[in-house]
Amino acid sequence: MAFWASAAEAVTWTRAPRQILDDSRPPFYRWYPDAELNTCANALDRHVADGRAAQPALIWDSPVSGSQRIYTYGELLDETARFAGVLRSLGVHRGDRVVIYLPMIPEALIAMLACARIGAVHSVVFGGFAPHELAARIDDARPAVVVSASCGIEPSRVVQYKPMLDAALDASEHPPQHCVIVQRDRHRCELVPGRDLDWHQLIATAEPVAAVPVAATDPLYVLYTSGTTGRPKGIVRDNGGHAVALAWSMRHVFDVEPGDVFWAASDVGWVVGHSYIVYGPLLVGATTVMYEGKPVGTPDPGAFWRVIAEHGVKILLTAPTAIRAIRKEDPEGSCLAKYDTSALTTLFLAGERLDPDTYHWASDKLNVPVVDHWWQTETGWPIAANPMGIERLPFKAGSPTVPMPGYDVHILHPSGSRCAPGEQGAICLRLPLPPGTLPTLWDDDARYEASYLCEHPGYYLTGDGGYLDEDGYLFVLGRIDDVINVAGHRFSTGAIEAVLATHPAVAECAVIGVADEIKGQVPRGFVVLQAGASAEGVAGELVALVRAEIGAVACVRDVDVVAALPKTRSGKILRKAMRGIAHGTDEPIPSTIEDPAVLHALRPILAP
Ligand code: COA
Ligand code: AMP
Repeated sequence: MAFWASAAEAVTWTRAPRQILDDSRPPFYRWYPDAELNTCANALDRHVADGRAAQPALIWDSPVSGSQRIYTYGELLDETARFAGVLRSLGVHRGDRVVIYLPMIPEALIAMLACARIGAVHSVVFGGFAPHELAARIDDARPAVVVSASCGIEPSRVVQYKPMLDAALDASEHPPQHCVIVQRDRHRCELVPGRDLDWHQLIATAEPVAAVPVAATDPLYVLYTSGTTGRPKGIVRDNGGHAVALAWSMRHVFDVEPGDVFWAASDVGWVVGHSYIVYGPLLVGATTVMYEGKPVGTPDPGAFWRVIAEHGVKILLTAPTAIRAIRKEDPEGSCLAKYDTSALTTLFLAGERLDPDTYHWASDKLNVPVVDHWWQTETGWPIAANPMGIERLPFKAGSPTVPMPGYDVHILHPSGSRCAPGEQGAICLRLPLPPGTLPTLWDDDARYEASYLCEHPGYYLTGDGGYLDEDGYLFVLGRIDDVINVAGHRFSTGAIEAVLATHPAVAECAVIGVADEIKGQVPRGFVVLQAGASAEGVAGELVALVRAEIGAVACVRDVDVVAALPKTRSGKILRKAMRGIAHGTDEPIPSTIEDPAVLHALRPILAP
């Protein structure tokens, strides 16, 4: 408790915490229950007040649009305060939700901070999600306003956001009264009179508003993530614990000081973007880089090194998949030699397992420490890492090092007993979780308990499997549920199955994650057709269906039509056995299998 009382001193409170943890209602815990603050004021106003008004706060670098823009802390505060005024004028009040469906443009960060400023709750939806996914999130969050844009820019095409937004609003049961649309030069869209409003017109005349104090336990945002079912889970983040934990992690995990340039090459639609593009760097007065581009193809595999050199990036945080993509196109690192990357002190990687090959390649080529760290949307900041701002522990390839303060990591057998060092099991965290982690799911305490807390009472189930070695180093081996990780993006195989099942020719289906050289994992679908249905063209239609319903980013490229799926006698599809064959690590075949010949027949299709 003393630790988190002391860590709280890094935050400016409008009412300082007297109580640190409310543990009166287990398994629900609340940090800093009597405190008040404003997260936006901590991210912007206090740095301006401390003399950082002229320091760059945000560097936006967009090779796909050929643009760059630097916002100082003073400018970012001004734009944010005025957009907060826009939201206020549209009737958004403390506790109201605002859905943000934007590409990687500064307005995304400004809209998030503006919500925080007036105590509204933002829910950012990744721009690569299709209308159906957006509609599901709108219906769960019931926003007062949606903020979106005319388009996003992918290397191969302009992605028109407005038709997707319109389709989502048509499909949703709780559409907002107003949409604020950022019109981008590359493609301008039609606005629906009365409903849609132009960001630039509104902000030109908006009155800035001051930050309002909110309870530390008030929600700052809801971020939806994939669970094991098709319905996304609304991860809630509160204001106080979040600010304390992120400020602590910026200093002690990432070793960032005020004025340092920190770049998380992710997307604001994912948790990495929330924590380490937007809030983390700004909470500690650093400069954050927002990059609208890819590691390769915009224009070449030297893109990341150019950004580091041009903006003096000290810390880069990205996903291993980005490094694998660069390595594939430039194995010798010849693009790297063209840039002066001497400002870079550390490369942090997260979002998926860091394979030792990628770790060694990045270490050799960049000649800086490469730090694996493990966390999830639910926790918001690293569960395990090498705390570079405290002491650099010896690295072990394949391990994200050791648990961070507040995370009491245990490896459990299915029975609930603890595994010995080196023994694999379910990675669980003993309650309470530290500040900054999810207090619950949006509007659904029961689902929070059922999803995470029931399997092993007193523990939070991470969904990952792994082990602790004799030295206390954690090794994360992968998900033990039906969540898959595609290029550092999290998807539910259940959600993809639900889409495949809507095709009229499909009788039943299974989706599993299979290994991919670049993306770590990609989903692969197997369908059994209805009696009499023709297989002609079905696979292509199913791939198109997933693109339309979930989004291209789910990367479903292969769907196989098979005669039957392996099942237990009670009718449960043996996905684990299928995964084992696909990974070349044959799992024991359960004795409850209905017909071993069905699994046998799939072997040639599944085998790596
Ligand atoms: N809006 C619309 N479409 C999007 C999108 C967005 N924001 N992001 C991705 N897509 C689309 C892409 O255009 C692509 O469509 P296509 O099938 O028509 O080509 C598809 O989704 C897959 O995109 P992507 O995952 O970017 O794969 P890729 O093969 O184009 O590129 C990588 C591969 C490795 C370069 C890319 O996955 C990458 O940059 N990964 C880093 C991931 C990351 O930052 N993760 C965050 C966790 S830290
Ligand atoms: P997300 O919620 O999208 O951040 O995904 C979280 C999941 O990504 C975790 O549960 C892990 O399965 C995986 N993951 C994230 N970081 C790592 C890592 N460093 N090593 C292994 N797996 C990781």
